Amino acid sequence: MLLCRPGFEKECATELLDYANTLNIPAYISLKDNTGYAHLVSAEHLSLVPLLEEIDFKQLSFTRQWFACGHKIENLPEKNRTLPLIEAAGQLQSEPGSGFSDIELSYADTNEGKSVSRFCNAFKPHWLNALKQNKLIKPRSPFRLHLFFIDSSTAWAGVSLVDNASSDAMGIPRLRMPKAAPSRSTLKLEEAIHWFIGEQEERRFKPGMTAVDLGAAPGGWSWQLVKRGLLVTAIDNGPMDRELMQSGMVEHLRVDAFTYKPGSKVDWLLCDMAERPLHVSRLVTRWFEQRDCRAAIFNLKLPMKKRLQAVNECRQLLHSSLNRLKIPYSIQIKQLYHDREEVTVCILTDTSTQ
Ligand SMILES: C[S@@+](CC[C@H](N)C(=O)[O-])C[C@H]1O[C@@H](n2cnc3c(N)ncnc32)[C@H](O)[C@@H]1O
Repeated sequence: MLLCRPGFEKECATELLDYANTLNIPAYISLKDNTGYAHLVSAEHLSLVPLLEEIDFKQLSFTRQWFACGHKIENLPEKNRTLPLIEAAGQLQSEPGSGFSDIELSYADTNEGKSVSRFCNAFKPHWLNALKQNKLIKPRSPFRLHLFFIDSSTAWAGVSLVDNASSDAMGIPRLRMPKAAPSRSTLKLEEAIHWFIGEQEERRFKPGMTAVDLGAAPGGWSWQLVKRGLLVTAIDNGPMDRELMQSGMVEHLRVDAFTYKPGSKVDWLLCDMAERPLHVSRLVTRWFEQRDCRAAIFNLKLPMKKRLQAVNECRQLLHSSLNRLKIPYSIQIKQLYHDREEVTVCILTDTSTQ
């Protein structure tokens, strides 16, 4: 079971199918457009838990959350839903008595799906209680137990590996829009830092570090950097937020992002412009090739069609360029919850840890 942004089911499932093919795991896709979820089905009725172990979840661009599940459980009795679900949970254990260290109740990120959210909240304490009574909660288990509800009488039960799945329920981080931020875009960068940088945040964003923000106006991304004490050069012909400029931490240059060159190397390059994805990827690779930045977070707006192909082309271009530099690096590409028809890319090089 793969959860994704509604409308991206095909990209999400195809991406995983491609990985399954390279691992020689026979599988096929089952999905309905705009449902916010898709299935990869084993062609040989085998468990797909090995996929959860073999594939690094962080390398998937379109999957928000995933788990290996059995068949759909239907006609849950209104008065005692836990009974059949406990039976299913028992069968999902890796071995008898191994249990689960965590649980997640979820539903699709669609209007239809969200109508189940209240039920899920009310059901969760009963579910946890029933699991405890049946000795299925085991703090040391590497597995999380999932229930994905279509409605209050239909669910899929499954398991994920706690260390190789999203730690946010349904892969959606709960972020609040900061009142002082100049634009809603600010949440995109906040989520990107949460997702890509995580526990390394203090090391990767230190006060006094420098950043260039290409396509910065009105300043939602720059605001996140200033909040972390970075000195920002904001590149945009458009106006920057007055209050942000009063921080004294931002220099605003009204120049073209594609020709601008920094006076000296910066710690971070950020870029959030509605340009062709390959065009932006080439721009970013130039910054690394010319040793003008140590790390980058940028957005790629996706075309209407062949969206997975566009992402893969950019990924290939970035890898071949960074490989030539012979420095350790990592690339992650993710459609974040706050991304719409776009993905966010994070490139870290070893030098960005210094
Ligand atoms: C989506 S907005 C950026 C929002 C910003 N990240 C924020 O959080 O507020 C895109 C910006 O890119 C700028 N832009 C587009 N092409 C540009 C270029 N070639 N050079 C400089 N800025 C550009 C636009 O003026 C626009 O302000």
